[in-house]
Amino acid sequence: MQTEHFWMPFTANRQFKIKPRMLERAKGMYYQSTDGREILDGTAGLWCVNAGHNHPKIVEAIQKQAATMDFAPTFQMGHPLAFEAASKLASMAPSGLDRVFFCNDGSEGVDTALKIALAYHKLRGDAGRFRLIGRERAYHGVGFGGISVGGIAGNRKQFGPALSGVDHLPHPLNIAKNAYSKGLPEYGVELADVLEQRLLALHDASTVAAVIVEPIQGSTGVILPPQGYLQKLREICNKHGILLIFDEVITGFGRLGSAFGADYFGVKPDMIVCAKGLTNAAVPMGAVIASTEIYDTFMHAAPQDQIEFFHGYTYSAHPLACAAAIATLDVFKEEGIFQAAADMSAYFEQAAHSLRGLPNIKDIRNLGLVCGIELEPQTGKTNTRAYDIFEKCFWEKDVLIRTTGDIIALSPPLIINKEQIDRLFSKIAEAIREQALS
Ligand SMILES: Cc1ncc(COP(=O)(O)O)c(C=O)c1O
Repeated sequence: MQTEHFWMPFTANRQFKIKPRMLERAKGMYYQSTDGREILDGTAGLWCVNAGHNHPKIVEAIQKQAATMDFAPTFQMGHPLAFEAASKLASMAPSGLDRVFFCNDGSEGVDTALKIALAYHKLRGDAGRFRLIGRERAYHGVGFGGISVGGIAGNRKQFGPALSGVDHLPHPLNIAKNAYSKGLPEYGVELADVLEQRLLALHDASTVAAVIVEPIQGSTGVILPPQGYLQKLREICNKHGILLIFDEVITGFGRLGSAFGADYFGVKPDMIVCAKGLTNAAVPMGAVIASTEIYDTFMHAAPQDQIEFFHGYTYSAHPLACAAAIATLDVFKEEGIFQAAADMSAYFEQAAHSLRGLPNIKDIRNLGLVCGIELEPQTGKTNTRAYDIFEKCFWEKDVLIRTTGDIIALSPPLIINKEQIDRLFSKIAEAIREQALS
């Protein structure tokens, strides 16, 4: 097969193309590789196939829609599925968050939410609020807004200064104090105070439009919020009139056993960004779920015959994506998938922590059906240990894991059962042991 033309995203292209890892089919908890092996999916694709692969109801909905109406614009036009998908999503969101702006992925969702935040303050006559606060080690996608509030050097360093007026909270990972935490780490709530004591003191609260955080920082290796941390951020934002945005691209749709991280943590943001699990990843789609108050502010600021928000994408609320979203949200409910994840999380936690003591592991952390296993780097090398384990898992153990730096991140479809959890962790344990000997 010719491999030179596809410039692969977030991939060491030349390394990959020497020995490509190829998938061609999927069903439930498994992929099938092009060499015919069944691969247990420990990552729900990319944290996104929450209901398991090729769910028949979702497949059918997409097929039916593709044959009925391929595309309809949503600029000055509408189609019923767009409104139905928005209503279903709003009914699943925390109360008061019920206005849905559709886009095509998480990156667009983040940029959309940041724009809404800036415009919202302007419309309220508070245009001095132009600053955005993100967090170190945050991943908010790859748009210029997202990389600006994001905190990953590799995603920023090649692209110039990006957005101005952005600052960052410290990330809360502290292995020295919180290693092997089960669930939320005990230490670190005071890191939320940095918002008020350092960032707002430096910039003045009246210049800050929004704070954006992932409830769990997934992409940079499963960094969990310390107990009380998100509540503290909410209190500080409330006190200073700052919007709080939760980027729930990973934590949305059952990953923590509830519809959103906001429900799990009992903290209501002003906007939720979601994507991935929204359509079970079968068709790209993202969304911003905003509070009624934010939406009303836009509506009241413009005459009825004027566009209130100059923003949107050709494919906002694409009919195929809407069909997939409606079917997916129905499947989540009908099959009790969030509850299944909640019920399985204790078993998953115990299986994850059973790896403690294996060579080179320096931390294991988990919440819901997410787990991070952090490894000691190999002497004199960068990010090679976890990658070697990932390769071993794929080629020799028939399990798909994900790595970021020297951290293994696991986020299986939420339909995983106990036997599959046992298999996932025992295969990873074998790979960790064998890698240590090599
Ligand atoms: C928290 C978070 N935000 C945003 C994104 C970007 O989403 P997408 O890749 O769909 O643009 C991701 C992707 O992993 C993510 O984890």
